[in-house]
Amino acid sequence: MQGNFTYNNPTKLYFGEDAIGHLTEELNNYGPTVMLSYGGGSIKRNGIYDAVAAALREAGKTVVEDAGVMPNPTYEKVLEGCRRVRDNKVDLILAVGGGSTIDYAKAVSASAYCEDDAWEKYWVNQGTPSCPTVPIGAVLTMVGTGSEMNGGSVITNRKEGFKRGKVFGPDLYPRFAILNPRFTMTVPQYQMVAGFFDIMSHLMEQYFAGTADCTTDYINEGLMRSLIHSSRIAARNPQDYEARANIMWTATWALNTLLKCGKGGDWEVHQIGHAIGLVTDATHGMTLASVSLPYYRHVMHDGLHQFVRFAENVWGVRREMTQPDGNNAARQAERKSDEQMATEGLACLEQWMKEIGVVMHSRELGVTEENLQQVADAVLILPVGYRTLTRDEVLEILKESM
Ligand code: NZQ
Ligand code: ZN
Repeated sequence: MQGNFTYNNPTKLYFGEDAIGHLTEELNNYGPTVMLSYGGGSIKRNGIYDAVAAALREAGKTVVEDAGVMPNPTYEKVLEGCRRVRDNKVDLILAVGGGSTIDYAKAVSASAYCEDDAWEKYWVNQGTPSCPTVPIGAVLTMVGTGSEMNGGSVITNRKEGFKRGKVFGPDLYPRFAILNPRFTMTVPQYQMVAGFFDIMSHLMEQYFAGTADCTTDYINEGLMRSLIHSSRIAARNPQDYEARANIMWTATWALNTLLKCGKGGDWEVHQIGHAIGLVTDATHGMTLASVSLPYYRHVMHDGLHQFVRFAENVWGVRREMTQPDGNNAARQAERKSDEQMATEGLACLEQWMKEIGVVMHSRELGVTEENLQQVADAVLILPVGYRTLTRDEVLEILKESM
């Protein structure tokens, strides 16, 4: 383990089928006016809205409705939420939904009383709020982003032509989050598996960095193995509570800052994914799935030791060559090279992706020869991970992803 870090995660989690029972007691900690932020209406169809409304009534709150947070939330929508917060002197933003709604709530919280241009301040210059912010609570309905226990807020600004992430500090983490796996059972299969890949991507993008022997990597490998196991079950039977509950818990730990302790991070797959999302409005997890294999094959030689470790510890790839008849007792003395091991690890990843049914090509998401350049231009290149890409390499990876 190397480096210095501070770990501080103030989000209080309530997990399980009875978790919503804690909402009223949490609401009692805040002032009288609650802005209820949610998406396009799924919570009205699956009963979650009624459960939340009952808790709000019981706590005697005045509710300010704030519907229509879209997937890949826009800055325009954020400004609309800001006006609502100011006009109603909101005491708490209760975000009920997936990553989009919770990210949006953080953006509104930090921007409502911001005297500068919030887009410039937070998403361009990565500044820290110097104005009052509004506390946030979350009821999670879709698993993947980890937004329920972190400071991430990814916003799309179509006018400026960017989809950008800002990671706020612990003051803007949800103060509390309600995690009931049953609330996620109505998520359509496409969204569900996109979320599974988003989790895997968060795990891999923190894993593929650094050279030190680090406890954090061992924790990460355990989470990857649990995700692979449970996602196989859930992809076949989405109503399997145990698998869905495991995945919900894994998603939270995959991106609540634990796994970056003592590590750098890569995050280039997310930057490419965000550029695809900006241009096509495609589902976040699928954008990552479509570019991951070309990306990792591209950087594999730069971080070979970690790709070998990934093959061995996550996928169980063995060094020894086995006889074609599979007779373990008669193993050949020959052992696979590091390159063969790493390649096999990525082949296992590919196999798993096909098994759970994610999108394997960016063309399926709307990337075309015509908009390829636009996507490439919107990619933020980060000087981290095992290799800093050039603009040409980004284009090459995108072409391979199609
Ligand atoms: O809008 P509604 O009607 O609620 O429908 C949503 C939406 O269409 C639907 N859904 C959610 N819960 C449901 C449900 N449908 C039926 N039953 C339920 N229980 O699912 C769709 C997708 O929801 P969304 O919130 O967009 O998905 P997700 O959680 O994947 O969030 C994606 C956003 O999070 C950002 C992404 O970039 C993207 O903008 N990210 C946030 C991060 C963070 N905060 O740290 C990190 C991630 O890497 C990611 O970038
Ligand atoms: Zn993500």
